[in-house]
Amino acid sequence: MSKNETQPNIPQHIAIIMDGNGRWAQARGKQRVFGHKAGMERAREMAEVCGELGVKYLTLFAFSSENWNRPKDEVSFLMELFATSLKNESKKLNKNNVRLTVIGDKDGFDKALRKAIDKAEALTAGNDGLFLQIAANYGGRWDIVQAAKKLAEAGQEITEASIEEHLVTSGGPAPDLLIRTGGEERISNFLLWQAAYSELYFSPKLWPDFDREALQQAINNFNQRQRRFGKTGEQVTTADKGD
Ligand code: IPE
Ligand code: IPE
Ligand code: MG
Repeated sequence: MSKNETQPNIPQHIAIIMDGNGRWAQARGKQRVFGHKAGMERAREMAEVCGELGVKYLTLFAFSSENWNRPKDEVSFLMELFATSLKNESKKLNKNNVRLTVIGDKDGFDKALRKAIDKAEALTAGNDGLFLQIAANYGGRWDIVQAAKKLAEAGQEITEASIEEHLVTSGGPAPDLLIRTGGEERISNFLLWQAAYSELYFSPKLWPDFDREALQQAINNFNQRQRRFGKTGEQVTTADKGD
């Protein structure tokens, strides 16, 4: 029996594209924003579950650079929901030893939201439990461009390592498992650089329905995979045995 069968391997970093809130609400004859509220609850639960499972990094895609193109009312609702959730949740996150950071272009947010982000980040900065990264006004292309700009301004050499060092996720590991809910099988400008070798998992479940069991299924599926990083299967199997 391999070690994966006796003890499931918990991915160190899980990243999730939380998609399907709008359809979830519409299927219930409700406004899309109702789905965003339910999605927020689910995100909170997912952070708890991941903390319990011993996941070290959880990155949640909450709002993309492109989501500004949605109807104005929906965008305002999402911004308000983000600000109130930060205010309401940060104490509990802190109590649970969660370190929260927001990755994305924060300049796109209004002053009050930026302040709420700064406060939540400062409050939880010393924690060493789950590292929760909320990707908001985030785009993978933006991330690479902002890193390249910093290097250019500093006159630094462009290498894979130097770009990596300037991405907003700098210092953390790349996602091992990247989940997208909602049935679509695309990346939608999420962690383009960082997901180079992530295992992708697509769930037909709409985000507000993605529960603990669904996450466990994704992790079990992840455990069936062999990550080769360009090597042959044999090389990887041999390395696993410690030869
Ligand atoms: C994901 O759910 C949340 C955000 C993008 C903010 P959607 O709002 O995209 O839900 P669907 O895909 O329209 O159902
Ligand atoms: C991706 O979902 C962004 C988030 C989940 C925050 P979208 O619903 O915006 O993606 P597309 O437009 O279907 O590609
Ligand atoms: Mg969507």
